[in-house]
Amino acid sequence: MSPKTIITGIGHFLPPKVVTNFDLEKKMNTSDEWIRQRSGIKERHYVEPGVGSSDLGYEAALRAIEDAKIDKSEIDFIIAATLSPDHYFPGIGVLVQAKLGLSGIGALDVRNQCTGFIYALSAADQYIRNQTYKKILLVAAEVQTSNLDYSDEGRDMAVLFGDGAAAVILEPNEKNDNRGILSTHLFSDGNYASDLWMEKPSPKDNPTFSKELLDTGRFFPKMDGRNVFKNASIKMPEVVQIALKHNNITIEDVDHLIPHQANDRISLMVAKILRIPVEKVIRNIDRIGNTTAASIPIALDESLKKGRIKEGDIVVLTAFGSGYTWGSAVIRF
Ligand code: UT7
Repeated sequence: MSPKTIITGIGHFLPPKVVTNFDLEKKMNTSDEWIRQRSGIKERHYVEPGVGSSDLGYEAALRAIEDAKIDKSEIDFIIAATLSPDHYFPGIGVLVQAKLGLSGIGALDVRNQCTGFIYALSAADQYIRNQTYKKILLVAAEVQTSNLDYSDEGRDMAVLFGDGAAAVILEPNEKNDNRGILSTHLFSDGNYASDLWMEKPSPKDNPTFSKELLDTGRFFPKMDGRNVFKNASIKMPEVVQIALKHNNITIEDVDHLIPHQANDRISLMVAKILRIPVEKVIRNIDRIGNTTAASIPIALDESLKKGRIKEGDIVVLTAFGSGYTWGSAVIRF
C-alpha cells in the first residue's frame, strides 16, 4: 500500500491591521451587538491597499517551509486555493511560485471558495499517494475586504469577511505509521451557484466592464444568507458522517473538529447535530472572521502551534460554501 500523505509543515499569515465591529459601526448601519450575536465575530484582519492574496500566500508559504525544515527548492508542485486572486488571470499559484523563486514546477489553482482548502488537500493527497510529487506546497489565501459592499445593502456580508492566508507542506509518510490523511470527500451542487456569488464582471457581458456595471454595484459578492446558513448546517454534518463511516470510526473517536469558520452559530449547530462536545470544536472566528479558503488551515495552524492538537489525534475538517461546494477530510496527526 502506498504511504499516506502527511502535513510536515504549516504556517499562516494575517495582515497586521485589525478591524473591530466598532470600526465597522462607523462605516455602515450595524452594531457590535448584532455582529457578535449573529456571527460570533468581534474583529478581523484587513490588508492595506496594494497587498494581494499572492502576497499573503507567500508569507504563509515561507512559514510552512520553515516549519517543515526543508529547503524551498525541494518543493516539486504548488496548489493554490483562493476566490480572490490578485488578477482575473493568471491565478495566484504561479505568482506565489515566482515570489518563492521556484520557476519551472507546476502550479495548480483551485477555485472552490470556502471548500477550497479541502478540495486542494484532496488533490494533493492523490498526487502524493500516486507518487507523482513528493513535496507539495498548498497555499490558501484570501483578500476579500477590498470588494465588499460597505453600504447598508451589503452589510450582511461586509461584517463577516477578513483577509488571511495559510500554507501546508504535504509529503508521503515514509514511516508508514498510520499517520496522515485518512480520507477526503468532496461534493457540489451548482444549482445553487447564485445563492453566494460574485456575479460580475462577467465575460458574458460585452463589453465586460461598462459604466452601467459600475452604476449597478453588481460586482459585489451577494449571498442569500438564510439559505446558505441552512444548507451549511445540514451538509457539513452529513459529509462528516460519510467520512466517519468510510473510516469505520465514530464521533467519539474524533479528537478535534475544525469546521470552516463562516459563522459561529453554524459551527455550534454542526457540533450539536454531530453530538460532538463543543470543547472538541476549534473556533477562532471571533478574532479572524471568515477567511474563506484560508479559514480551516489558519485554525489548524493555531491549534497545532498551541499544542491543542497532539500527535496521534484524529482531526476532522469540514467546509461548506459558494458553489455550493462542501467536503470533509479526516487526518491522523
Ligand atoms: O463562507 C461561506 C458560507 N457563508 C455562510 O455560511 C454565511 C451564512 N449566513 C449567515 O451567516 C447569516 O445568514 C448572516 C450572518 C449573514 C445573517 O444572519 P441572519 O440571522 O440570517 O440574519 P438575516 O439575514 O435574517 O437578517 C436579520 C435582520 C435583517 O433585518 P430585518 O429584515 O429583520 O429588519 C437584516 O437586514 O438583520 C439585518 N442585518 C443587519 N443588521 C445589522 C443584516 N446584516 C446586518 C448587519 N448589521 N451587518
